[in-house]
Amino acid sequence: MTLQDALKRIETNFTVSAEVLKEISQGFYDEMELGLTQTGNAIPMNVTWVTEKPTGNEQGEYLSIDLGGTNMRVVLVTLKGDSKFDSVQSKYNLPAWIKTGTANELWSFIAEYLEEFLLKQYQNIPEETLPLGFSFSFATTQGNINEGVLQSWSKGFDVKGVEGHDVVPMLQKAIDKRSLPVKITALINDTTGTLVASLYTDPLTKMGLIFGTGVNGAYYDTTDQIPKLGISQSSPMAINTEYGSFDSSHRYLPRTFFDVAIDNSSTRPGEQTYEKMVAGYYMGELLRLLLVDLYYRRYIFQGQDVSQLNVPYIMDTSYLASAEQDSDDLPTIGSMFESLGLATTLKERQLIQTLSKLIATRAARLAACSIAAICKRTNVDSGNIACDGSVISKYPFFKERIENALAEILDWSERPYPLQIVQAEDGSSVGAAIIACIAQKSI
Ligand code: GLC
Repeated sequence: MTLQDALKRIETNFTVSAEVLKEISQGFYDEMELGLTQTGNAIPMNVTWVTEKPTGNEQGEYLSIDLGGTNMRVVLVTLKGDSKFDSVQSKYNLPAWIKTGTANELWSFIAEYLEEFLLKQYQNIPEETLPLGFSFSFATTQGNINEGVLQSWSKGFDVKGVEGHDVVPMLQKAIDKRSLPVKITALINDTTGTLVASLYTDPLTKMGLIFGTGVNGAYYDTTDQIPKLGISQSSPMAINTEYGSFDSSHRYLPRTFFDVAIDNSSTRPGEQTYEKMVAGYYMGELLRLLLVDLYYRRYIFQGQDVSQLNVPYIMDTSYLASAEQDSDDLPTIGSMFESLGLATTLKERQLIQTLSKLIATRAARLAACSIAAICKRTNVDSGNIACDGSVISKYPFFKERIENALAEILDWSERPYPLQIVQAEDGSSVGAAIIACIAQKSI
């Protein structure tokens, strides 16, 4: 087999036709319906207890903490009413040892940086208690707005002693230990935050999605349409779908050998099947695995030291994003691989660009399947889909590729398409503040 043949094969395996997209989307719809009916399903459809939509008139100062991606953020949000807000934030990189360490280390780390942030923002730390919305971007079971029992870590996090426990009292204890005047009044998911923050400024918002380290989506359903709740009264209820876990039974998604390899070596094999094919945390690793395979089959980088290329997760999504945007002779790809100790020929650089495009296009096309399923569930055929996360904000053409795949699934033929993908910057922290405000009112 020549390199050309090998590439053809990869192309076939990574290309998802419109017909398959439609089937996957129907599978999504079915699994979502099931998740609203009973607990313990592949897609949990977590009830968030966010039972109101924001009016845009919410006001006040709220803190929020955002945990769940590469960085942790502490934000002070001033809701000004009239759909306006200001925010100041500090971003802290989460070291790998924190993501896989002990519960105590994680909560103390967060409380320490919260204190640092407060000292920076206020000359004197205020005496009155500041309400805080905690945006915790993992699957949690919530009995009310102010609690969240972690179902399962994802995205490479694996902190001992947290799964199965309510994270709110854990973080609150670490905050109290530092005698900070801060009370956690709401626990939210980043998707619910994005949904609510976007609705605060844009009433046409239909759902809140994250395309970043992980993928997930939230939307408003109606209580009497959620059988597992057993409520006959009809009122809004935001649902955090946790659709990254779609297809744990491997019925729908066209997984390749490389997807299976990523799953097998992950911290949680068998979980988050869809996320592992769509999210930013895994795209670089997919590219690395494809390249390693081509090297060992003697197609590329022959005679070179591939020790760095052999390091799992050494390449993040920015490698693919930069590769897709590179100019004619692909100098950026050249220098990225040089920093991994590899010299590349033009042919190899072209191959890297092609593979990047294949991986990211498949991710974007699969991303459209969950959106179409939520549209079907909620009878939505127009409006705005609010998206946040590093992939949607930084990856070239990701938004357009999702829109084109949506058009294929929903049979749209004319532009402008009736649903627009819009970017919702800092949705999770602003949303956490708005939800903290709503929660405070209802206490
Ligand atoms: C993972 C988490 C989910 C989160 C998503 C995006 O899928 O389980 O809660 O919303 O990542 O951050």
